[in-house]
Amino acid sequence: MEKAAFDARYDEYRKAVEAYLNGLFSDKPHWADLYESMRYSLLAGGKRIRPVLTLEFARLAGLDWHTAVPVACALELVHTYSLIHDDLPCMDDDDLRRGKPTNHKVYGETLAVLAGDALQPEAFRIILTAPGLAAEQRADCALILAKAAGADGMVAGQVIDTLHAPKTEEELGEVHHLKTGAMIAGACKLGVAAAGGNPALLAAAEEYGYQLGLAFQIRDDMLDVIGNADEFGKPIGSDKEEGKVTYVDLLGLEACDRKVLDCTEKAKAAVRALDADGFLAELADSLAERNK
Ligand code: IPE
Ligand code: IPE
Ligand code: MG
Ligand code: MG
Ligand code: MG
Repeated sequence: MEKAAFDARYDEYRKAVEAYLNGLFSDKPHWADLYESMRYSLLAGGKRIRPVLTLEFARLAGLDWHTAVPVACALELVHTYSLIHDDLPCMDDDDLRRGKPTNHKVYGETLAVLAGDALQPEAFRIILTAPGLAAEQRADCALILAKAAGADGMVAGQVIDTLHAPKTEEELGEVHHLKTGAMIAGACKLGVAAAGGNPALLAAAEEYGYQLGLAFQIRDDMLDVIGNADEFGKPIGSDKEEGKVTYVDLLGLEACDRKVLDCTEKAKAAVRALDADGFLAELADSLAERNK
């Protein structure tokens, strides 16, 4: 796909996501400090890769993608909570996120924990009230998000990553599969589920998502070493400071690069038959060389 056409579609999706998120938690109850802290992280300028994936898979599965915007944003709420909690002193203890001070640095740990807590049920509220989706599609979407984020998904990955000191390539592969792959694959599957849940498309979305997720997390670990904090929007050297072993330690940067490209090719192959205009291929390629 031509870069200009890719950028235009990504931007159209991104703008719809920003507009939807901007409409959330904007009232002023006397607990508006909670709303403010949720909005601070939600609207801090994430890349919106996961909701873009949901919208593109919804489109490929035959739905008007606008109908999938609430569902796409619901997963972004859960992603955002995972980042707020990931940055806490008891987790990665980081001060910079999306180029800004982390949530707990601005609002304090109590409100950061509670903002993350609130973002989770709010995500399910959004799915379960999404206009234009039948009850069955809403339920399917809620189940996909629950599995991606839950005790056998993202949180399992966070537990192994922060508490079990994974060291081998196999152990790190499992961490990446769970903490990052599950949510990216979940985002892809949400789009298909919103459109009715064609089983062959769901399987392709899952394989694409997991391969993309592995490439994405290895690239993240590389950027934690070779990135530029201004561009990356996160501190450099955080993994080392936390005493983490990453693929960069095990394989070196060059082999990491090759592994990112290998996973990217596998991701593209998984959707070759349905990615007619090449948007998903272009997205995978652009993420393999990302610096932010
Ligand atoms: C950060 O995800 C967490 C990882 C899985 C590495 P992103 O790099 O997608 O973060 P944002 O949403 O763009 O800030
Ligand atoms: C985070 O992995 C994945 C999550 C589930 C939040 P990292 O700890 O490497 O993510 P960053 O680098 O802080 O974004
Ligand atoms: Mg972490
Ligand atoms: Mg972190
Ligand atoms: Mg990281």
